[in-house]
Amino acid sequence: MARTYAPITAEIVAELRAIVGDKYVIFGDDERLEPFSHDEVADPAYATMPECVVRPETAEQIAAVMKLANARGFAVTPRGAGSGLSGGAVPAFKGVVLATDRLNRVIDYDRDNMTITLEPGVVTNEVNGIVAKDGLFYAGYPMSMETCYIGGNVAENAGGGKAVKYGVTGRYVIGLEVVTPQGEILNLGGKLLKDVAGYNLISLMTGSEGTLGIFTKITLRLMPLPRAAVDLLALFPTTTEAIAAVPKLMMVGGVIPTAIEFMDKTSVKAACAYLNESIPYEKAGAMLLITCDGASEQQVETEYEAIGELCLKHGAFEVYVADNATTSERIWRIRRNIPEAFKVQSPKQSVEDIVVPSASIPRMVEGIEAIMAKYDVSIPCYGHAGDGNLHATPVANPKWSDAEWKAKLKEILAEIYVLTRALGGSISGEHGIGHKRRAVMERYYDPVFLEAMRAIKKALDPNLVLNPGKIFDVG
Ligand code: LAC
Ligand code: ZN
Repeated sequence: MARTYAPITAEIVAELRAIVGDKYVIFGDDERLEPFSHDEVADPAYATMPECVVRPETAEQIAAVMKLANARGFAVTPRGAGSGLSGGAVPAFKGVVLATDRLNRVIDYDRDNMTITLEPGVVTNEVNGIVAKDGLFYAGYPMSMETCYIGGNVAENAGGGKAVKYGVTGRYVIGLEVVTPQGEILNLGGKLLKDVAGYNLISLMTGSEGTLGIFTKITLRLMPLPRAAVDLLALFPTTTEAIAAVPKLMMVGGVIPTAIEFMDKTSVKAACAYLNESIPYEKAGAMLLITCDGASEQQVETEYEAIGELCLKHGAFEVYVADNATTSERIWRIRRNIPEAFKVQSPKQSVEDIVVPSASIPRMVEGIEAIMAKYDVSIPCYGHAGDGNLHATPVANPKWSDAEWKAKLKEILAEIYVLTRALGGSISGEHGIGHKRRAVMERYYDPVFLEAMRAIKKALDPNLVLNPGKIFDVG
């Protein structure tokens, strides 16, 4: 339903300047506002220019901005690094983008309790830089780790490459300070490993895509740093064979690897060309990148040998072992750069984020191959095969006009989503719904679920000023 929000007037800008300081308000300067109009979604149709950007420095300033938004009726969209893939940080209803880049301090690092408390604008990769020297690590591993912020990871409940063994971001969030949509400062949890007093609002806030609150402090649980890690690169003749091996690895091998990443030939080629890299892929139709880590080299060796043998038994024609950090990083860099490599090729593509129960992933891939044939379209696939999460990426056939592409993409996605849901899957495993998939959410999910979310949203944000236009229609 189309809502109207108050336009950002000179008077509101003056009030915003009084809250965050003159220097930290961008207004009336399209060149400086433009970077805040989009995230990493390739299609420019999903971009919307903000009217104003504010860059607060404290929770109190954010609370004051939210109080003003409620009083004046303008929309506020929180933004981290803008590395999202569903438009979560895009100001769908214009208004104010609230950037969290200046909240980038480490508040507390507690070795004894194995926790770290950060502001939301800390770059995720930096966490491990801080704690590794003490033999600790943060287990979140989003593919955009070199640029994304921890606040965005929590807002999207980011998954990433190590979720098979370590789970997703939410498993490690044990404390939050949140500014509510109405401008209150809410403290949840702390350094506790267990706490059942009251509703689990940490879980509710984690993954709420910036629609229920703005994080200002995040306490993460740290883990002991694995003393050894090895990566395997298993080459398979075809996608079907590589994917068919995945459910076998854990079930038969009796080992939970840290990562089981899947890349088809098109994805590897794109990333290698983008990075000016080369790896031995010529004969491989698809590959699995598998990581094992653990407390000792011996343990890891036992695990990766078992996994390597299983790969060979289930169709791999070659398994390379990367047992030093340089080679490992070289392969992971290729994996991490696949989305960017596709993005620079063409904006006429759609990175999907479907997830199915992990044993159903071979059926998902078969279905995608049938859709490719039916529409004469290329749908390269890569992703986190070990947890059933696949980034199927329909790419426009160069013969199609823009209008044809738009119409066909709709049909292609509908077929992919119908199949995903039929397999007991979900349309987003880690990127979120944002405004990119909002309409689809309404179509494929239970009205009772959607109604419960609407009720929560209205209770916490009665004026609907925080990140409107995301996830579902508020009605
Ligand atoms: C990845 C991003 C697209 O897995 O989630 O590379
Ligand atoms: Zn991913």
